[in-house]
Amino acid sequence: MWLLLLCLVVGLFFYYLPKYNAWVARFPPGPPVKPFIGNMLNYKAAHMADSNAKWGKDFDGLFTVFVPLPIIMIHDYETVREAYVDNGNAFSGRIYRRALEALIYEKDTGVLNSNGDVWREERRKALTIMRDLGMGKNVMEEIVRDSLREFVDHVDSLPNHENVDLRWPIQIMVSNVINEVLFARKFAYDNCEELMNFVTLMKKNFDEISFSPLFMLAVAFPFIIDLPWLGYRAVGRHKENTMKMMKFVVNTVDSVLAEQPLETEADEHRCFVHAYAHKMGDQIEKKQLYATCADFFMAGQETTTTVLRWAVLFLAKFQDSQKRLRDEVHSVVGTERLPSMTDKNQLPYAHSYMLEVLRFANILQANIMRVTTEDTVIKGHRISAGSAVNGDIHYIMSKDPHFEQPEKFMPERFLAEGGQSLKKELVDRVVAFSIGKRSCAGEALARVELFLALTTLAQQYEIHPVEGQEIDLTPTQTFVQFPKEQNVKLVKVNRS
Ligand code: HEM
Repeated sequence: MWLLLLCLVVGLFFYYLPKYNAWVARFPPGPPVKPFIGNMLNYKAAHMADSNAKWGKDFDGLFTVFVPLPIIMIHDYETVREAYVDNGNAFSGRIYRRALEALIYEKDTGVLNSNGDVWREERRKALTIMRDLGMGKNVMEEIVRDSLREFVDHVDSLPNHENVDLRWPIQIMVSNVINEVLFARKFAYDNCEELMNFVTLMKKNFDEISFSPLFMLAVAFPFIIDLPWLGYRAVGRHKENTMKMMKFVVNTVDSVLAEQPLETEADEHRCFVHAYAHKMGDQIEKKQLYATCADFFMAGQETTTTVLRWAVLFLAKFQDSQKRLRDEVHSVVGTERLPSMTDKNQLPYAHSYMLEVLRFANILQANIMRVTTEDTVIKGHRISAGSAVNGDIHYIMSKDPHFEQPEKFMPERFLAEGGQSLKKELVDRVVAFSIGKRSCAGEALARVELFLALTTLAQQYEIHPVEGQEIDLTPTQTFVQFPKEQNVKLVKVNRS
């Protein structure tokens, strides 16, 4: 019996091997693949960025990696621009596989994971509403500054500034911005268990999926999802976590909608949910509203929080650049009021510092995957419609030859001669928000948050390593590169 089974498996293997090899040959060349499992054994979450950097060099900027789903990696800045900007439409799809439903509210909903008309409509609607609410300027800026004011008050009130954990204060400060924008709600610093549970669950899902070959197999071979036990281990348990997070978003949206009927024009602008409901009237599709809010709530806090947590460590580690940043902020803004976006033109070093934080933190080991919507040709390689593709923004920021000594933290690298303006060709290569039609929908808000948070931190505190400790800048080896948890020492800057 066992012998028969073995013969059957071996027979199938040799029958399908030539077909598999012929299929592999249809993609742009890449590192050698093992039959059926592709590059899974030598492409691990922990070293994904290093593998991409090596293969990108070996295969002249474009290669296919099989995990075991084939992904065409587009490596250098010029080629990513050729694909994502010059051929923007062809590269505007988001990959859909059944297993990936484990990470989303529902297929064909929201902005981040939808495609075609749903994506175009939801993204356009969301950006119009955000713009009307003042994204990237005035109203939004005031929301950010309010949140920063509360952050500073909270940090000032902490009993021991010698050894401060800024992880949760930063998270709450960032969450309160998106919470206020979407729902006109705020988390209190001393009562935010709901937020902590949400964030802990989100991180657990990221971490578990990053390290799960079983999940990757289920992405390529969906029948695994239907197998008892294995299907649950591969996908079901992650979906359960996602649905718990969705429950929080759905309940919040419902309770905001139930608050009061909209009566005045001002009500329409109270928050995203009200503006969306007003805009759609009877046409409202609740599942789209839930999914779009979930996308903005999740994408709008974890990324910005992680970058700011890195920023605190860079400030503590690199004292000279911290001092230069503070001196500039003090000379332009003083200490009596918090920085604002109108100060930005007079704060070229602070602007450079923010760009260097984004570049050096480089929080995504790989960009969010896309899919081609039509046949296309990039760098002479034919790429057929429906191929999974990924523009390697991590490589561009960590190794593009335009950045001299990219392994060093040097905010001044962006300053043009005279120190008053920035070098555009370098600024363009800070692609943390990606480029093209599917680039980050919250970029304008994120830039305001990062600039104001950074300048406020430098204005208000001297940030040092805790006495006797060194700052460790080794990231966690997950898809999102988090800093290791570590405290800092704060010295409040006296008002002059
Ligand atoms: C430092 C902070 C942030 C970083 C580094 C970041 C980065 C990114 C990246 C790399 C993408 C994928 C782009 C692509 O497919 O090529 C993305 C997409 C997205 N981001 Fe952000 N993001 C940040 C903050 C935010 C904020 C604050 C929001 C919401 C307010 C947001 C909402 C979104 C949404 C909705 C998408 C999906 C866009 C689409 O598929 O059309 N992000 N972001």
